[in-house]
Amino acid sequence: MRRILFVDDEPMVLDGLRRMLRSMRKEWDMEYATSGGEALEILAVRVFDVLVTDMRMPGMDGCQLLNQVRELYPHIVRIILSGQSDREDIFESLGPVHQYLSKPCDAEMLKSTVARTFAVRNLLENDSIADVISKIESLPSLPSLYTEIMDEIGSPNGSLARVGEIISKDIGMSAKILQLVNSSFFGLATHVTSPTKAIALLGLETVKSLVLGIKIFSRFSRSDLSYCSIAGLWDHSVATGYLAKEIARHLKLSQAEIGDSFLAGLVHDIGKLILLDRLPEACSKIVEEASSTGCAMFEAEKKVLGTTHARIGAYLLGIWGFSESIIDGVAFHHCPSECSNEGLSALTAVYLADGRQHKNDRDKVNKAGSFDQDYLSKLGIDHSEEFQLACSNHCRLGEERGCENSFR
Ligand SMILES: [Fe+2]
Ligand SMILES: [Fe+2]
Repeated sequence: MRRILFVDDEPMVLDGLRRMLRSMRKEWDMEYATSGGEALEILAVRVFDVLVTDMRMPGMDGCQLLNQVRELYPHIVRIILSGQSDREDIFESLGPVHQYLSKPCDAEMLKSTVARTFAVRNLLENDSIADVISKIESLPSLPSLYTEIMDEIGSPNGSLARVGEIISKDIGMSAKILQLVNSSFFGLATHVTSPTKAIALLGLETVKSLVLGIKIFSRFSRSDLSYCSIAGLWDHSVATGYLAKEIARHLKLSQAEIGDSFLAGLVHDIGKLILLDRLPEACSKIVEEASSTGCAMFEAEKKVLGTTHARIGAYLLGIWGFSESIIDGVAFHHCPSECSNEGLSALTAVYLADGRQHKNDRDKVNKAGSFDQDYLSKLGIDHSEEFQLACSNHCRLGEERGCENSFR
């Protein structure tokens, strides 16, 4: 049974949570603490999966508690549940927080947030990697884009549109900005999937304090890149995002699903970036395994790590609060039939877009480099030449639009 610890200095708030979550007693093991100190005592004797804490508490505040938990028990998913008046404090301490929820928080929101966290843990297939992933505060950027963003933001004539354009070309920056903008912290009514829109909503001053003050971005600096080419990973990710969006249009998905398709396509290989940045030794072993057996890279990852870049990426996005549609699109982009949510979705678009992008390289969709025909025919997709031609036309159209006007 998965365990959650709630921390709040107001006993009435804890009583409210107990009542709100009574129906989950058979599925979740829940404990309650009235201070950071008490929480640490409880954590020292029992293993927990999720910590939900208030921000402003006497003695140790929520961020101090989460910083300690990050170091002592990195696998625990860290959620802040706070009032609006605590926003300033939180803004200063974004690092250790995976997700934010605002008080008052309704039962369904709290239940679905925690349930999604447990579901992505089950997806990961390797609990020891959870420690590495949940310590991640941000992912490094392509050096050229990092320089561009710092120059643009540092310039007295910096433009918000240009900042959005640069961020939407970078996997790590896009994921971080969308994690922040979609958290309850910013209180937006809609779910944003476009990095350019996210930047427009945040405004230049907020983006400046995030980038220059809180330093949410960093530059990629590893040099051993036999696992995959950095420039190639970025190009492939942006191209997949674009093509997934066009395929989603072709499949007549809803506007929300088209937005999800772009975002899931852009970040579908974020797990590769995590592996490169955080697990370089594993990357060397994966490369060895793939070259000695001739299997696809994701199959080599499974043999070496017991999981794949797809699941690793989905886990990070899951604990950062991304929607189920994005998580599915990332987790199952090499094996869509394994996804329990059936039907046409952003996953379908990402699967087709990624497959087309990988068509000519060695990281093929599967050994034969072809699509899962059972999956496609179940969805009524005739993956004929005609369909492929339509995708190519959409792709070309998308690239032309992209030249004019970035990725919206
Ligand atoms: Fe992949
Ligand atoms: Fe890919």
